[in-house]
Amino acid sequence: MTNLLIAPSILSSNFSNLKEEIQAIDKAGADWIHLDIMDGHFVPNLTFGPPIIRSIRQITKKPFDAHLMVTNPDEYLEAYSSSGVNMITVHKEVSTHLDRTLTRIRELGCKAGVAINPATSISGLEFVLDKLDLILVMSVNPGFGGQEFLNSSIDKIKLIKNLVGDRDIKIQVDGGINDKTASKVIQAGANVLVAGSAIFKGTGLKSYKKNIDILRSKA
Ligand code: DX5
Ligand code: ZN
Repeated sequence: MTNLLIAPSILSSNFSNLKEEIQAIDKAGADWIHLDIMDGHFVPNLTFGPPIIRSIRQITKKPFDAHLMVTNPDEYLEAYSSSGVNMITVHKEVSTHLDRTLTRIRELGCKAGVAINPATSISGLEFVLDKLDLILVMSVNPGFGGQEFLNSSIDKIKLIKNLVGDRDIKIQVDGGINDKTASKVIQAGANVLVAGSAIFKGTGLKSYKKNIDILRSKA
């Protein structure tokens, strides 16, 4: 498969050295930069928001892929789009009016994605396929990097692949992706791999390039 995309999550980077970390994954061959936005409500952790995104936007031209792990994404869609992200993914569990939210994301000029937790079904997504650019399958319970991959995500990816058919919708998987799990999710139908701890293992460009190349070699 040649169309596999790798999206390193900067959640696992060294935040005291964020500029160099982003430059390193850019040069190491990252396709997208995955931004894990956590609000301390939807998930038991807090990360960063639009001001930091706006300032790191100047460091790289790679697409910014914002994964909003927040209870009220609708209130922040404009703030994220104007901070320079290219894709906004909201969680199905908090999206009472998912159709409206996805429409709004596209109106703001971003690609629109929906994320589903390990215990969330794909039901209902069949009605919003024409509003979706991306479906994100969580293969851990969101909130932290470095957790163990949940095998239940494999069957879910297969169901989504079937649902998506030949539509231009990316199937992204996030959580516990490493040299052992990558091939399983790719075989099931994932074409965008998010990885934090597996990519930011070691320090600097050389390590990150090796780590990205290992994941890419699984396709
Ligand atoms: C989890 C985040 C992930 C996480 C992945 O809540 O959405 O993006 O950073 O980290 P790893 O690859 O270490 O499981
Ligand atoms: Zn994520």
